[in-house]
This record gives sequence, structure tokens and C-alpha cells, in this order.
Amino acid sequence: METIYNILKTEHDQISDLLRQALQDGSKVSFFKVKLKADPHMMGEERLFYPVLEEIKGLRELISKAYKEHNEAKTLIFEMEVMEERDEGWPTKLSELKQSIDRHIEEEESKVFKEARNFLNQEKAEEIAQQYIEFKRSYMNRIETGRPIT
Ligand SMILES: [Fe+2]
Ligand SMILES: [Fe+2]
Repeated sequence: METIYNILKTEHDQISDLLRQALQDGSKVSFFKVKLKADPHMMGEERLFYPVLEEIKGLRELISKAYKEHNEAKTLIFEMEVMEERDEGWPTKLSELKQSIDRHIEEEESKVFKEARNFLNQEKAEEIAQQYIEFKRSYMNRIETGRPIT
């Protein structure tokens, strides 16, 4: 059975590839591909993964740092949504976004996942995985049908 770590790791790799692509072509279309992957990924982690870890004594600070890193990425994404790819500041913002997300992914895999593995048993890691898959399914459904994401 899949664990939450496998799923998130696969998505990290996809996000990294999309960021590389975006930096290469500098297009807004490529930026939106990053956003479409990163938005539900962060939301799912914040709803289903981080709250479980926050309960664990000693992980509070690590998780609060992860939230801050998400907020940094979200702010950059928000700023870039209203920019055009021909804008002067676009390439800088794009490379800032790449740096910010790459750094967070690295932290998450090397620290957050490592700690989580120490504290959560296999069953719990599989249970969160199922919840995450379900969340993603309904999120993507809502995107397709244009219903609001609640
Ligand atoms: Fe992640
Ligand atoms: Fe994250």
C-alpha cells in the first residue's frame, strides 16, 4: 500500500520537473502548470499531513517553518498570477519561486518526512495517503467543474 511519503515524493519530483521547464521557457503557461500541481499539494499537506505532525511534541517548530515556506511560495505564485511573462520582473520572480520551492522540498524530504517516519506507524502513513488521494480527487473535480474549493 502506498504511504503519504511515496505520494508526496512523486509529486515533488513532478513539481521540480515543471519548475525546470518553466525556467527554461519562461512562459506563463508553464508557470500555471507549476501552480496547478503545487496548489493542491500544499493544501493537502496543510489539511491532512501537517496537523497530524503538529500534535507531536518536538515537531511544532519544524512544521511551523514548513507553513512559512508554503506561505512564501503562495505569495510568489499570487504575485506572478497578475504578471505577464514579458514583464521586466518576471524572470526574477520565476527563479525566486523555483528556489523557494526547491528549498522547501529539500527540507520536507530530509527533515519532515524523516521525523514523521519516526513517529507515525505504517498504518497511519497509509491512512493519510488514502485521505490525500481522496482530497486530490475532489479538488481536481472542482477545478474541472468550476465549483469553488472549500
Ligand atoms: Fe510537499
Ligand atoms: Fe510542503
